[in-house]
Amino acid sequence: MKLIVGNWKLNPPTLNEAVALASGVAYGLKPEHFEKVVLLPPFVFLEELVKRFKHFQWGAQNVFWEKTGGYTGEISLAMLKDIGVNWVLAGHSERRRYFGESDADVNKKIKAALGADFNVIAAVGELQQGDHADEVLASFKKTAEGLDSFSLDRLIVAYEPVWAISTTPGAKPDSPARSNQIIGELKHAAFKMFGESSKKIRFLYGGSISASNAPRFLSEPYIDGALVGGASLKADEFTAIVSRS
Ligand code: PGA
Repeated sequence: MKLIVGNWKLNPPTLNEAVALASGVAYGLKPEHFEKVVLLPPFVFLEELVKRFKHFQWGAQNVFWEKTGGYTGEISLAMLKDIGVNWVLAGHSERRRYFGESDADVNKKIKAALGADFNVIAAVGELQQGDHADEVLASFKKTAEGLDSFSLDRLIVAYEPVWAISTTPGAKPDSPARSNQIIGELKHAAFKMFGESSKKIRFLYGGSISASNAPRFLSEPYIDGALVGGASLKADEFTAIVSRS
């Protein structure tokens, strides 16, 4: 089963619009689709959305690794768990680019989240288009260093070439064949790190996924799902991606 994650980023501006978007997605999905969908709205809408839409798996776009203390502006895993959330995204390229998150920070977030029984989507990807597989693999190794192999069934790695993310000027999607190849290399690197347990990790592609190109990405053998940004803000487009996966 493919996993389709909708990352709403800094959208929409109001709770009413968030509820309308979630309603539109719920309306467009068949009952059997819900288990393959994870939605990541802004923090402030999570509690209400979890209460109103119990069939979705809801997650946060970020989390801090410490449990409590003097960390102004941060959100803990316990706070998320308290409102019924057990998915988090860690290390999205926008967090890395605009908020200075490093591979070491992302590694701490993943360890804390897996340790607290969360499902974690960890993002890695190169900045520039070209032959940068080494950069992606190096970032993945640092990001995944020292993880407990017993929790890898709750780890999802999203390969997101930054140049292919729709908010990057001039972005266009990667080719399905190339992203499949990079994900194959990531799977190989994971096998070297964790052996057989690495086969439990799911790997997604993200970057300008649309209803029209999704089937080509999702039919590639190494790609286990998609991380969808812009298209997750349009209920019709997003449900078409899910239906075609
Ligand atoms: P995009 O975003 O689908 O709008 O390219 C993907 C992401 O950043 O998660």
